[in-house]
Amino acid sequence: MTQNSHVSGSYWLQTAPGPDRPALTDDLTVDVAVIGAGVAGLSTAWELTRAGKSVAVLEADRVAAGVTGHTTAKVTALHTLVYDKLRRTRGPEGARLYARSQSEAIERAAWIADELGVDCDWERRSAYTYVRDAGRVEELRAEARAAHEAGLPASFVTETGLPFPVAGAVKVTGQAQFHPRKYLLALADDLLARGGQVYEHTTVVGLEEGEPCRLTTDTGVTVTARDVVVATHYPVFDRALLFARLSPRRELVVAGTIAAGRDPDGMYITPDEGTRSVRTAPHGEDRLLVVTGEHFTPGTGNTRARFQHLSDWAAEHFPDVTLTHAWATQDNDPTDTVPLVGPFHPGAHHTYVATGFGGWGMSGGMMAGRLLTAQITGGTCEWSELYDPRRLRSAVREAPSFLKTQAEVARHFVGDRLRPAPPVESLPPGEGAVVRVGGERLAVYRDEAGQPHAVSARCTHMGCLVAFNAAERAWECPCHGSRFDTDGKVVQGPAVRPLEQRDI
Ligand code: FES
Repeated sequence: MTQNSHVSGSYWLQTAPGPDRPALTDDLTVDVAVIGAGVAGLSTAWELTRAGKSVAVLEADRVAAGVTGHTTAKVTALHTLVYDKLRRTRGPEGARLYARSQSEAIERAAWIADELGVDCDWERRSAYTYVRDAGRVEELRAEARAAHEAGLPASFVTETGLPFPVAGAVKVTGQAQFHPRKYLLALADDLLARGGQVYEHTTVVGLEEGEPCRLTTDTGVTVTARDVVVATHYPVFDRALLFARLSPRRELVVAGTIAAGRDPDGMYITPDEGTRSVRTAPHGEDRLLVVTGEHFTPGTGNTRARFQHLSDWAAEHFPDVTLTHAWATQDNDPTDTVPLVGPFHPGAHHTYVATGFGGWGMSGGMMAGRLLTAQITGGTCEWSELYDPRRLRSAVREAPSFLKTQAEVARHFVGDRLRPAPPVESLPPGEGAVVRVGGERLAVYRDEAGQPHAVSARCTHMGCLVAFNAAERAWECPCHGSRFDTDGKVVQGPAVRPLEQRDI
């Protein structure tokens, strides 16, 4: 398969489309409103419902169709290379708490799948972080030691199931992989059966904090709730300016059929080669090979070429694969490695956030569900402090990546305005570009019929200029990762308002 036009879409979405859920049309009062129906939002809502709270989930798009519907769906506590760093930055106890919290989340998901009788292709596998460069072996040995000391069943190995040699790998046994939508759609069904509420196509545009809190939707409906959880991947209503501590990263995925006998029997990731991640999933008599990689800042570079590069890598290393699917996902990397889960800001009493899971949102989102439920119901959780978004003590450690993140934003905010703009007439069908018309920068897409679609190129979040992703036919903001369709509708936040329409 080549990727010369656009992506085919997520395998998880195509094989588990799920039912349509209604939009919220009437005012509502609940104990807890959860904004966002991805893994973090649904896990939180489900746990809260089990704890006896009345809960409404408000999703701007569809349930588990955003980042969660495009993940690789590894459920593991091995997060590439995190434990050696955590041991140094948060101490041995911090590393232990991180390992325990993530491992507990995996076991909780296994229990839920079993309890609800969900057929979500749950499979236990070992997770590996490998390198092929002998120069990085010591780094891997240190990570294996740190992960083991943190309490994971981790070891350093040189043999894996991959069809090529590695210089070394960290192996953690007893991890898991699954079909994320089969699991989360079942969670949503159970939530509804227990009296919870789930609304799709319901965009929250206003949050008034207080006792109670009030949310307003883009159609003017009000939701009154004692507590509010913002689980929108990149937080909307960023009262604590968390965007300054998060870097958006887009990542590509290709998938296709391999013979069951060629299954590498594990979940793999390497930090080298622009990141490469490999897992498989049940696929009839065969297996589905899922390869992820080519990470980049949204709105930068040639995404078609990157898809081709990733497809070529998959075909070179798994020669009998027949690629059938291609899609992309987006992660937010926190500046100090640890996700931000807990009270929204220093003055928050009833608002909470879950964000910054890096590429590890499955275990991280499940962990967030348990953590936030404990906080909202007045319980205790050992790892509250580790994930507290209000943490200040890491400010010095975060400074280099914080400054780098802000320098990148400033570079895009100013530099992108200085770039020469092509004339509209030069745009071929299926392409988009930021052009200058009458002194304004417009984002213009020419559809396959030759019709131009024009919107303001100014991102409605904080005003950076968007850029066109030709492979996915979307406008992307390089500053904090907002994404819009070719008519300006928000596909992914933190922006909540569409790009303004323009005549051309
Ligand atoms: Fe923040 Fe666009 S996402 S300015």
